[in-house]
Amino acid sequence: MHILINTGGGDAPGLNAVIRAVTLSALRRGWKVSGIKRGYNGLLEEYPQGLIPLDADRVRGISHLGGTILGTVNKGNPFEYPVKEGGKVVVKDISDTVIQRIREVGADGLIAIGGDGSLRIAQKFIEKGLKIIGVPKTIDNDLSATQVTFGFDSAVSVATEAIDRLHSTAEAHQRVMVVEVMGRYAGWIALNSGVSGTADVILIPEIEYDIEKVCAAIKHRYDTGRNFAIVVVAEGAKPKGGGLSIKGAEVGREVLLGGAAEQVAAEIGRRTSYETRSLVLGHLQRGGGPTTFDRLLALRFGSAAVRMAEQGLWGNMVAWQPPKMVPVPIKEAIASMKAVPLDHDTVSAARDLGICLGD
Ligand code: F6P
Repeated sequence: MHILINTGGGDAPGLNAVIRAVTLSALRRGWKVSGIKRGYNGLLEEYPQGLIPLDADRVRGISHLGGTILGTVNKGNPFEYPVKEGGKVVVKDISDTVIQRIREVGADGLIAIGGDGSLRIAQKFIEKGLKIIGVPKTIDNDLSATQVTFGFDSAVSVATEAIDRLHSTAEAHQRVMVVEVMGRYAGWIALNSGVSGTADVILIPEIEYDIEKVCAAIKHRYDTGRNFAIVVVAEGAKPKGGGLSIKGAEVGREVLLGGAAEQVAAEIGRRTSYETRSLVLGHLQRGGGPTTFDRLLALRFGSAAVRMAEQGLWGNMVAWQPPKMVPVPIKEAIASMKAVPLDHDTVSAARDLGICLGD
């Protein structure tokens, strides 16, 4: 058996741990393993140098490292591949080249490590006959089939530490600090880090916020002698009746969100007399090594993926449904996004703790 591995979409702490687990578990079975560099790029522009043999030496000492030894891309969708033609960028379907090269190198299957975007690409390849097993990666934790994705816990840890740090500077200056966290259209990072970091206001995409209510909560805090406030804003948060804050759009990729915190801070500054600052945590949430939780989860996902390949369970994603790792058809896994349910216990806890959720 010869299996390929790739990592696609935004990086997430734990990718290297999955690569190590897949490689060692496959080698133990006497299989051959190759890594495709930068999504599918190693089979396209970077072919054949972009296909690298993976052995025990190559994956030694990488479990705790951030990033991915294979590299990644989030605009490398072979079904909508941006190609320059006559000075213009046009989108082409070059998926057949990928399939042809996978056959050329004699690979039996692919372990695709990615979030919803990468898994959607994987599903299209499955429909064209490729054997693929998916491993759920994303700091956003927005895949519904698995209780949690790897990378999420690390992102929440970074965001919580940042919120902890903001408390002292906010208090020293008697300021409102508005911090934007990632998560795309789901509020998991904002909710978990905001509650853990004892934010005063948490705005998530699942609850459209009323800026008057946000300001009232902050005023109440100042009126009762706490002369600073921390507001955590998910990048996908929207005001009542308003839209997403979009930073940019590029051919062949998801829109880039950004600016939600700046907008909230400007409104708070305009409607209250309090000094207000905003900041964006951005890619700090994805950088660095995984937490122990993510490292272990990633190692378990990787080895479970190989066990599934051994059983011929192609077309599935490994899902953590405690206490088991189970196969879930990728088609099913990408069918719906996992948003924060409004009756989630963490939402109730936030409300009981007196945190304003903007409604
Ligand atoms: O999906 C992971 C993620 O970090 C999102 O939270 C964020 O919206 C997006 O990727 C950022 O993309 P990029 O790395 O291209 O800036």
